[in-house]
Amino acid sequence: MKHLLSLESMSRKDMDVVLQNAAVFKAQRKDAQHQPLAGQTWALIFSKSSTRTRVSFEVGIHELGGRPLFLNANDIQLGRGEPIKDSARVLGRMIHGAVIRTFAQSDVEDFAKFSGIPTINALTDDEHPCQILTDIFTYQEKRGPIQGKVVTFVGDGACNVPISWIFAAAKLGFELRIAAPKAYQPPLALLERAGASHVHSEAQSSGEIIRADFRSSGGKIVITSDLALAASGADLLYTDVWVSMGKESETAQRIQDLSGYQINAALVKLAKPDALVMHCLPAYRGKEIDEETFEAHAETVFDEAENRLHTQKAILNLLVS
Ligand code: CP
Ligand code: NVA
Repeated sequence: MKHLLSLESMSRKDMDVVLQNAAVFKAQRKDAQHQPLAGQTWALIFSKSSTRTRVSFEVGIHELGGRPLFLNANDIQLGRGEPIKDSARVLGRMIHGAVIRTFAQSDVEDFAKFSGIPTINALTDDEHPCQILTDIFTYQEKRGPIQGKVVTFVGDGACNVPISWIFAAAKLGFELRIAAPKAYQPPLALLERAGASHVHSEAQSSGEIIRADFRSSGGKIVITSDLALAASGADLLYTDVWVSMGKESETAQRIQDLSGYQINAALVKLAKPDALVMHCLPAYRGKEIDEETFEAHAETVFDEAENRLHTQKAILNLLVS
């Protein structure tokens, strides 16, 4: 039984298959489609808001021959406290697969364990694997192999999106730089979990810099509060919201703490001349990115959003193959 619960647990081989097949599904969208989900019903069980993930999975399941069943977690007994393991055992007897957006990573893992059906993490507090697979597909579509390239993440470096980027860098062999204030940097234990062969920290006038190497892939991770250092010579500048879903009560503090960790024209100048700018969306102008830079790179950002559909189809296909 295959699941996509995290990039931490996804093999390099499966990542390569998804990245290759996303291009095939994209190229063949208008042709008669391979329908590996024919006769199947897949539930989307969402405890958090979504535009891109929900629509790309609903359309993707439909285009692969299946029927999507959207379940707002608050409308089913799960939202009234029915345990995840009971909901999983019920749904596992009726449907063929599940796509889950929730808070705790353990809920997605328990659902997979108790339901006995393929389960996809559509975002938890810990990871957003489908998003980062799409981002890498989009980068490679525009610029070729990501291996050896420099990806700079700017903003809340401890949320789901940069954490999935960490596991991707460790497996696919690129350099990921995370520029975030100290309190918004990912925990160092994650570097070990990702398989770092060497981690060291240097004190510099601009603050501490953490560097990790991944000998098996050639990947590197740099964590720093020095935004200019992180952006210098980057191939891809990337950001996400400062206030992730579930953190709304911290909004004022986060805006104060993360102020300045923004992609704008001055930051883009530090990156390579042909650097891409990407955003997982939704975007908050004037916070993690400014209006001019967002609009200057809108074509890339909305190609990235469209590519959620093609990548979800490649993920669904992997799980039923
Ligand atoms: N990027 C992303 O996951 O968007 P949604 O929250 O709209 O699904
Ligand atoms: N880090 C964001 C991603 C949104 C797609 C959140 O969890 O809200």
